Amino acid sequence: ASIRCCTFEVVNSAHTRLCTKKTMLTINGQFPGPTIYARRGDLITMNIVNRADQNISIHWHGVKMPQYPWSDGTNYVTQCPIEPGQKFTQQIILSDEEGTLWWHAHSDWARNSVYGAIVILPPRTESFPFPIPHAHFPPILIGEWWNTEIETVFKEFLETGGDPEVSNAFLFNGQPGDLYPCSNQDTYKLRVEYGKTYLIKLVNAALDNIMFFKIANHELTVVGADGAYTKPLTTDYVAIPPGQTLDLLLEANQPPSHYYMATRMYTSEDVHSPTTPTTAIIEYVGNYTPPPSPLLPSLPDVKDSAAVNNFINRLRSLGNDVDVPKNVEEFMYYTLSMNLMPCLKSTCSGSTRFLASVNNVSFVLPRLRLDILQAYYRGINGVYTEDFPDFPYLSYDFTGVVLPEEEAGTNFGTGVRMLEYNTTVEVVLQGANHLIDHPIHLHGYRFYVVGYGLGNYNRIRDVANYNLVDPPLMQTIVVPKNGWAAIRFKANNPGVWYMHCHIERHISWGMGMVFIVKDGERPHEKMLPPPPDMPRC
Ligand code: C2O
Ligand code: CU
Repeated sequence: ASIRCCTFEVVNSAHTRLCTKKTMLTINGQFPGPTIYARRGDLITMNIVNRADQNISIHWHGVKMPQYPWSDGTNYVTQCPIEPGQKFTQQIILSDEEGTLWWHAHSDWARNSVYGAIVILPPRTESFPFPIPHAHFPPILIGEWWNTEIETVFKEFLETGGDPEVSNAFLFNGQPGDLYPCSNQDTYKLRVEYGKTYLIKLVNAALDNIMFFKIANHELTVVGADGAYTKPLTTDYVAIPPGQTLDLLLEANQPPSHYYMATRMYTSEDVHSPTTPTTAIIEYVGNYTPPPSPLLPSLPDVKDSAAVNNFINRLRSLGNDVDVPKNVEEFMYYTLSMNLMPCLKSTCSGSTRFLASVNNVSFVLPRLRLDILQAYYRGINGVYTEDFPDFPYLSYDFTGVVLPEEEAGTNFGTGVRMLEYNTTVEVVLQGANHLIDHPIHLHGYRFYVVGYGLGNYNRIRDVANYNLVDPPLMQTIVVPKNGWAAIRFKANNPGVWYMHCHIERHISWGMGMVFIVKDGERPHEKMLPPPPDMPRC
């Protein structure tokens, strides 16, 4: 393990896509932001300097930050924002993560332009657990572009109660590709040599959509997800929720030519965002006449929920008999709902507005006070409550298609769930039969997805079918609309950890909650003290 150091300067810079120029927040003026390359177990000291005109915080998504939530970078959960003109030094503490992770702003919707990949290679003395790819590609980040400034879109979203302008294109490494206007010249290209194998590090950094991804005429082999290796899984497409990463092997074994790789959103809602595929070109080197236009892969249909569920359901841990907790000490049942509420503001686009909730609590960040971590560490009352409910509707039927009355109301709160150090935890995440899937992400941990199904969760029936042998180790799991996922983890990382839907609209409407994991007895079981330069509220 080595120690590295870098600086991220948060600046406003101008970028043009789809013939539209706009100013946006970036790191070092780059869009997408810089890739961090590291090896397993490295420690990276990152100096964040805010030279822009708005508050920001930066989160290292999927990095567990053992004993050190101070660097998790989550606005009002683990820190107050870094204000314009301020600096903050964060420690990116890698432990057993290996593969691809990413970083992004964790304040309002700034992550739309403030994001980048973290590539974690094996230590020098080890190699990948799969045939060593001959060549590496730069990571491929799926992003989203609005012609309007994202701050305006966000403001409109808050004011209308949920009818913001939809994005104008999805992006591959900042480019919409040549099926979009004014994008031909800059379409992202990857050059390959026939007979070689390449490692594609794919990140879904889009704000609101699960994406399908496919390469014409080529199969993909999934070898990793969320910074952990998986059993090799060969497939002709993948589905990737916002927040997730996948490591994919691509064999360049087709007749030398040009092929499109393409991505398009999935949604079970009435379609809003662009459905024209975003493209990049896989270009074989050699002497041949390229086709007038590359072959386009046929992506699963925009509404093909079975294609999403089937793919996710096939992911498995690389090893067997993984260290998944066998006995559960704390069982929680969390329902994810969209709540239709009367809208009282004159700016609303209708008489109702949406909120989102976990166990019927819409999570509110303690914006005007202090972050939850400081409040916990310093014993300050009134910032959060320890009453997050466990079992609201254990016997409720979530398969009804009409929005049930029970879900129609929600309470606002900043509720946390306290956990004793080292408890084994199971959370069943139950999705309602309303609108859309929820990719749920947990900070500070990775969890095993021991069960995944459609309809209502049934404790007796479903526990019997859990996979305790090789469940995938993840930090973001799609909870299907009208379905559920069961996750297990050992609460061995003390701190304050956000769990939330990684769809930006849903987190803004309150689909989240916080775990506080208490210190253990021994020194390595306790939170370390905060750094001296923690931003102040
Ligand atoms: Cu990718 Cu709470 O974040
Ligand atoms: Cu959601």
